[in-house]
Parts: sequence; C-alpha cells; structure tokens
Amino acid sequence: MSDLVSRDLKHVWHPCSQMRDYEAFPPLEVVGAQGCHLHLKDGRKLIDAVSSWWCKSLGHGHPRLRAALSRQMDRFEHVILANTTNDVIVGLSERLASLAPGLNHVFYAGDGSTAVEVAAKLALHARKIQGSGESRFLALENGYHGETALTLALGDLGLYREAYREVLPPVSFLRGLPYVDSESHPLWRDCSAVWPALEAQLEENLAGLCAVVIEPILQGAGGMRFYSADFLRRLRAWTRARGVYLIADEILTGFGRTGTMLACEHAGIVADIVCLSKGLTAGWLPMSATLVSDEIYGLFYGDYGHGRDFLHSNTFAGNALAAAVALEALDVYRDEDILGQVRRNGPILAAAMDRVARTTGRLKNVRCLGAVAAAELQGPGTGHQTKTGQDARAGFQVYREAVSRGALLRTLGDTVYWLLPLNAGPEVVSELESITTASIQAVLG
Ligand SMILES: Cc1ncc(COP(=O)(O)O)c(C=O)c1O
Repeated sequence: MSDLVSRDLKHVWHPCSQMRDYEAFPPLEVVGAQGCHLHLKDGRKLIDAVSSWWCKSLGHGHPRLRAALSRQMDRFEHVILANTTNDVIVGLSERLASLAPGLNHVFYAGDGSTAVEVAAKLALHARKIQGSGESRFLALENGYHGETALTLALGDLGLYREAYREVLPPVSFLRGLPYVDSESHPLWRDCSAVWPALEAQLEENLAGLCAVVIEPILQGAGGMRFYSADFLRRLRAWTRARGVYLIADEILTGFGRTGTMLACEHAGIVADIVCLSKGLTAGWLPMSATLVSDEIYGLFYGDYGHGRDFLHSNTFAGNALAAAVALEALDVYRDEDILGQVRRNGPILAAAMDRVARTTGRLKNVRCLGAVAAAELQGPGTGHQTKTGQDARAGFQVYREAVSRGALLRTLGDTVYWLLPLNAGPEVVSELESITTASIQAVLG
C-alpha cells in the first residue's frame, strides 16, 4: 500500500463504499484525467466507463471549459445570488429557460439531490398557496433521486434507504413499468396493453396526491433501465388531467445522455418542474438547476410575508465559476453536435454490448439507448443484493478485473453498464468491449 493510500485510509471516508473493501482493493491514485481516460500514479491509463458518476459528459479536461473557467476566475469566483446578478448567471438562465417551453424560471443549488428537494418543496408549497394542501408523492419503482431524507424517500432502492426508514415520509410507488431494451421495442411506442393496470394504481393514489416524481425514460441507480416513451406520454396526460404536478428528474438524462437534450423529449412532453445537474457543468463543478413552470412561479409571486416566499437558500446557489462553465458547456454541446454524436454512436455501442453478450454467454437483458448500454451478469455469484454492491460477488469481481485491464467499469450489483462521455469515439468503445469481455470471462469463465 503506498504512503498516499495509507494516509487516505486514515482520514478519507469514501462515498457509497464499505471502507473495509479498500483493504483488499485500495483506492486508485489518480494523477491526471484527459478525455475518456484517467491517469494513475503507477502509469496505468483507465477508460472512465462511468463518466465519473455520470457527469463527465464531455470527457475530462475539455479545453473550452477550462478556458471558460479561467476567464471567470479572472473576474470573480463567487458572489451571493440573493440580491445580486451578473451577466453569466443571466446568460445561463436564458439558455436553460429555452430548453423546454413554459419552464422559464431557474432555481439554482449545488447538487442533484438538492435540485430534487427544491422541486418537491416547490410542489408542496404551491399546493399550500393554492389552499388545496395535497401533500403526497408518488414515484416509480426502481427510481433514485438522491441522498437527502426527502429524496431518499422518493427513491425505491432499499439498499440506500433502509437504515433511515423511520424518518422518511411515506411515498407510494408505481409498479409494473413497461421496460424496454431499445427504442425499437414495441412497448416504446405503444404501451396500451399495460396502461390500464398502471392507470388503476394512479387512480388509487389520487387522493391527496401532490406530485409524481420520475426519472424520465432512463432509471440510473435502479439498474440502468429504460422504459416506454408512450408510458411517459400517458403519465403526463394523466397528471395534467388530474391536476397533479409532474417532476422530471433529468439529473442523469439531461444534456443528451439518451439522445435528446432532455429525455422528456422522447415522449414529446414537458414536465411542470425539471431537475438538472451532472451534465449541466459537464461534471466540472457542482451545480444544479431546477426549471419551474410559469404557472408555479406565478403562484409564489406576491407581497413578502404572506406565505408565498420560497426561502430555500444554499450558499453556493448560482456559483459564478460553475455558471461560466455551464454556459460554455451548452455552446460545446451545440458546436460539437453532441446529440448527433450520440445518435451516430448508439448502434456502435449496442452492437458492441451484443458481442460481449454473445462471446461470454454471461449477459442477459442487453439494452441500449442513447449513450448508455447495459446488461445483467448471469452465472455463479450473481443474484445477490448487499448494501454496498461491493463484496465477493460477480459484479464487484468484474469491476476489479476491468480495472486491472484498463477500465473503470463500476457495476451496479449485477448490472454491467457503459456510460462513457458523450463524445467518446468508436475506438474507446472497441477497447472497452475487449476489456469487458475479458473481465467477464475471467470471473465467470
Ligand atoms: C437521477 C438522479 N437524481 C438525483 C441524483 C443525485 O444527484 P447528486 O449526487 O448530485 O446529489 C442522481 C445522482 O446520481 C441521479 O442519478
């Protein structure tokens, strides 16, 4: 164990980890990161196959983002956003407001969990202002929305929420979602066969319902699952007809991950509130933005002190360095035709994951949408669920094997997935395919 790692293990409590795992598999010492690759102290180069927790949408070290950050650093780094403004935050807000019609108001915070927390608070508060007071939330099976108490409650992953169950507000979950493996699955366009059962659950939950909270189209932490665009369209129609807010958590999906700027576009719908983070600054700096409809914003607009003031405040809301990078990132998405790249690379990614499945015979339920490909491991050591997803099980072993072969391929339990930077070229996909194949074969034969 190197000196740095032993110092690390004395003081750094790593996220989403059982620290004891690091005895057998110490943290990797990163000395640099460029494009799709991480550079380690021992000279190894790893493909960042998970875009550093799904946020490095333009890869590491993009020169335009570095220049934008450095320009802003020469001006000012951070100023309280209450009672001040500046050209960067105004420019960014104008651009974000143009992402979806009618969502013209942007509320900033520092991370994805807080963006969802803000969205949920806005929905509750809006109902209170209206005097109706609906206060229940409905979310989707296998959903994930963050780590604060309210957002944990909105998530359906026992793994993350179980220890805190007693303090989480009750949330109902819609079950039996029409999952698909690609846009060509018949349910993608038409889920009329399963809709009545879903609608019945929605109706059962209508009393006191304030909002439905969803990850549109792609559910990340719940296992990289894709569901029907037609279902999303119907859900929007139902929420609208019933006067229930729809909150779209686009923290993972926003900025091109599924092939459209927002995943809601697959269904041609606009939610009442949209949460953005991760790709917002292309993973350079922590920032989130909650886009709010004119209607909800209007409810809060009035004289101070009459219960209409949204007093949520985070110190780093609208941080100028993050805003400058986010503004530039929007230009890069456009100038480098990132959506076009995702569309062109999609079939390459899908074919590569299919080959891994065929060569190893150890993958099932292969699926691909936009710049995400995923599948479940099958064979000895699969099918377990533990708290960290990191013990002697097959998924963790595949992850370790992949690191030794040159890819940071962090699995989600038995789910193996590729979530490369959106601008990753075919040569990176091809190398990742070889590494994934060899790693699965090493673990499962
Ligand atoms: C869909 C979704 N919502 C919310 C979050 C929470 O974001 P953060 O980790 O920035 O708090 C995540 C993080 O992975 C996410 O994928």
